[in-house]
Amino acid sequence: MPVGMGFTGNGRTNDILWDKYSLIIRGQRVFIHSGEFHTFRLPVPGLWLDILQKVKAAGFNAISVYTHMALINPSPGVVDFNDYRALEPLYEAAKQTGIWIVLRPGPYINAETTAGGIAHWVTSEVASELRTNATDWHAAWQDYVQGVITETVPYQVTQGGPVIAIQIDNEYSQEPATHAKYFRELEAVYSNSSIVIPLTANDPGEQRAWINGTGAVNIYGMDSYPQGFDCSHPDVWSPVDTNYHSYHESVNPGQPWYFPEFQGGSFDAWGPTAPGYDQCRILTGVDFQNVFNLHLWASNAKLINYYMLYGGTSWGALPFPGVYTSYDYGSAIAENRELTVKYPELKRQGLFLRSSPDFYKTDWVGNSTGGIVSVSNPAAFVTLLRNPDSGASFYIARQGNSTTTDITTFKLNVTTSAGNFEVPRVTSSITLGGRQSKIIVTDYSFGSSSKVLYSTAQVLFAGQIGGRDVLFLHGDPMHESEAALTLSGTPRIQGTEVSSVSSNGVATVTLLPGIQGLITIWDSSEQLVLYSDTNTAGTFWSPEIPANDSVEFANYWQFGTNSSILVGGPYLVRNATITGSTLALRGDLNDSVQLTVIAPDDVKTVTWNGIPISADVTAVSNLTAQGGFVGQVKPSSAVLGFTPPALTNWRYADSLPEICSGFSDASWTLANHTTTNLPFKPHYGDGRVLYGCDYEFCENIVLWRGHFNATENTKSVNLSINGGEAFAASVWVNDVFLNTSYGNSTNNRHILEETDDKFHFPQGSLFYERENVITILQDNMGLNESGPVIDEYKSPRGVRGFMLNTGDFGEWKVQGKVGGYTNYLDKVRGVLNEGGLYGERMGWHLPGFDTSSWALKDLSEGLPNAAAGVGFFVTTFNLSIPDGFDVPMSFVFDNTSQPYRSQLYVNGWMMGKRVSNLGPQYKFPVQQGILDYNGINTVAVALWAMEPKAVSPTLQLTIEGVYEGGVGGIKTNNPPWSPEGRP
Ligand code: GAL
Repeated sequence: MPVGMGFTGNGRTNDILWDKYSLIIRGQRVFIHSGEFHTFRLPVPGLWLDILQKVKAAGFNAISVYTHMALINPSPGVVDFNDYRALEPLYEAAKQTGIWIVLRPGPYINAETTAGGIAHWVTSEVASELRTNATDWHAAWQDYVQGVITETVPYQVTQGGPVIAIQIDNEYSQEPATHAKYFRELEAVYSNSSIVIPLTANDPGEQRAWINGTGAVNIYGMDSYPQGFDCSHPDVWSPVDTNYHSYHESVNPGQPWYFPEFQGGSFDAWGPTAPGYDQCRILTGVDFQNVFNLHLWASNAKLINYYMLYGGTSWGALPFPGVYTSYDYGSAIAENRELTVKYPELKRQGLFLRSSPDFYKTDWVGNSTGGIVSVSNPAAFVTLLRNPDSGASFYIARQGNSTTTDITTFKLNVTTSAGNFEVPRVTSSITLGGRQSKIIVTDYSFGSSSKVLYSTAQVLFAGQIGGRDVLFLHGDPMHESEAALTLSGTPRIQGTEVSSVSSNGVATVTLLPGIQGLITIWDSSEQLVLYSDTNTAGTFWSPEIPANDSVEFANYWQFGTNSSILVGGPYLVRNATITGSTLALRGDLNDSVQLTVIAPDDVKTVTWNGIPISADVTAVSNLTAQGGFVGQVKPSSAVLGFTPPALTNWRYADSLPEICSGFSDASWTLANHTTTNLPFKPHYGDGRVLYGCDYEFCENIVLWRGHFNATENTKSVNLSINGGEAFAASVWVNDVFLNTSYGNSTNNRHILEETDDKFHFPQGSLFYERENVITILQDNMGLNESGPVIDEYKSPRGVRGFMLNTGDFGEWKVQGKVGGYTNYLDKVRGVLNEGGLYGERMGWHLPGFDTSSWALKDLSEGLPNAAAGVGFFVTTFNLSIPDGFDVPMSFVFDNTSQPYRSQLYVNGWMMGKRVSNLGPQYKFPVQQGILDYNGINTVAVALWAMEPKAVSPTLQLTIEGVYEGGVGGIKTNNPPWSPEGRP
């Protein structure tokens, strides 16, 4: 419905409107510059602020967040927003940081997580096709969605909160009609609630889904991952999709162009040939971000979300079978929360966008193949966007062949308020140094009244600091660039780059190759113009100076404040406040660095994390005559000399009593179903269905015991076992190991998610006078995501076929985690943390379990007698890390290929699954909060030797970095062992 001023809304609020250009939040035009962050992949709520501050510091103004139905709605009728499942602390942290949120609750989210986020109980209890308008599926998602609504209503932007939109489900086709009706039902639930913000959808490609017709949303968006998800050849690029703009114009020209997901990294799969995240960080690295992100801008997109900005950890049973524990994603912020090489490029882009309100409303004028833009060299491709009100123009240049590494030089004809001419005018050309893009601005404003007529140098920052108009340009030190600026005031510093100042004040600044570091081009009481090489520009921060707390949206750029400063040098600047004449900076350091500040003139003292910094007067005078500060900041000496403790004094206990004679499975669940809601039926057997999910054991390790009587003719058993890509299952008859059946993945190739084998009973392994038992220990690698086959999430993990060569099985018993998905014990760590190993059932993985009676045995000794089997190794260690430090740590296994799998428990949380024979992951980051940085920590390794061969795992705790700073106040929440409910 059209609202005044030519804006459109959803008819439920005027706080979020839009037109064909952009979103309008509370009357202000915004560019939504966002990154994806899944709080469930960082199960320490106190650290969410750390991520949000890092997002904000890069100039972003939003995040996109999936919530996870399986975690929040673990059992029928249970909705749990406690601990890391909570939304409120995220919403509060976002308000405090000044970050908008697009919430994406699914219920289906994909996200490389088990069943794409759908609660496991749903996969077994709902008979109809999921994600349709079927009534049992409709009933199944009510509690969860209502829960999300209750948590979110008070945090909508309309109520002073951060949430600006809610996405319906995820990447779904509008056909057949059952899908469309399902969307309509979800939308109706929001519309019948106090949710008033717009509803959105993410089309997986150019499929025109959800724009019109049944189930259409308020604002359409499209996802795009141009490099796909195999980082094996990180220098080989797929080209840019040149269709974005014309597709948008043809399908929803009246709406702003929205990318709910654009590639910000890649996931990585199991297997020895999986390249690992370092390769993903190259494939989607600085040059990729530079070329592909700016290509999105050139398509006139004004809402962009990078997936992922912080990936985190798929701990416990979170992964779907196609990924391992780490969800680092090769993102700009690494799994252990460190800033990577990709971060400064996003920051340069973010600060440019924050500095350039004229860019939020642009017409797509044309490009250099359409004849609208003229370039001297056809190897360069330039798109022109122009603000219809101010005339500010943005010529976005890339290589015509977007994957080339050639150096391309060109001149460009620009249309300006001072006429049409070719740039550059003084220097020889604009250069694209291989995989690079550039934005040539014309009639670009900075500060209150200053103008850039044109610049072939890149804009890092434009704004007002302390009443002066400030412009910070940067460029590749290999290239020349130039800018024509209206300079005013009497210069106290005038760099030699200013070749002339004409009578109307327009000066041409020529920046020759070779400039390294920061230089001052123009410094008057009215203006400051700075330039640096691109890398130096990446070391600058521009923290906002927030309004005081009584102002609504005090911490939101454009809303509470338009005031910021420049700070160069530190590893991270989290925030800045000015009180009287003191500028207080807070941030993180891992090294001694020069601090360079441009602040209002009345700032006389600068503190870093509360400590005053002494000024380097000479350095300041070379920088600016006003509002400048240069000093040295260094971490305290407490940083040095911290070494992690060695993991020693391991205690050992056997964790496979199930194969011992005399073991009773009387308390286990009888597996006697003869029907299942799973559409994938058993292959062979006697009509019984042995799927773990049907007995509430739907994640992690599950054990099966099949009883039978043998005769002399009993020779073998056929078993078909389904565990998902890269699974394994070991099989014993009585106490005799038969074999291990291996699923497979080699970087998502040669996928084997199910096996079918004949296991031969060795001589002497059977009893003829009494019952025999087959014990199957199987891993469930997670349930599949949606795929070409309907209801793939209802994955038949378990035994799909069982047949003795003679005779029948008696009872089958099954055991997974204690209590299954309705009565599981660990309500804090949640339904996806544990599995059914004996040691897990006994709670050996939990802190406080008394292992003093266990044998002393080093992890590297493996299991006794080089047997196949499962054992638990447990030890403790102390940490004592002073407050005021952020010290990311990892647990590192031997990087060898041995026939073992193991689960790593840290203070009771399953923080890693190591599959030594497949890899690739052997290093497992574990966060503070899971680790107690001031106390005793318990680490447990469940070691599963899959062959009767000696294995020798090793495990070390390593420190990834020491940062003085951090958000502080991280609490642990590691409930200890208790006998209650345990067998
Ligand atoms: C998208 C999906 C996301 C995630 C991504 C790949 O198609 O919407 O949830 O799975 O692919 O990482």
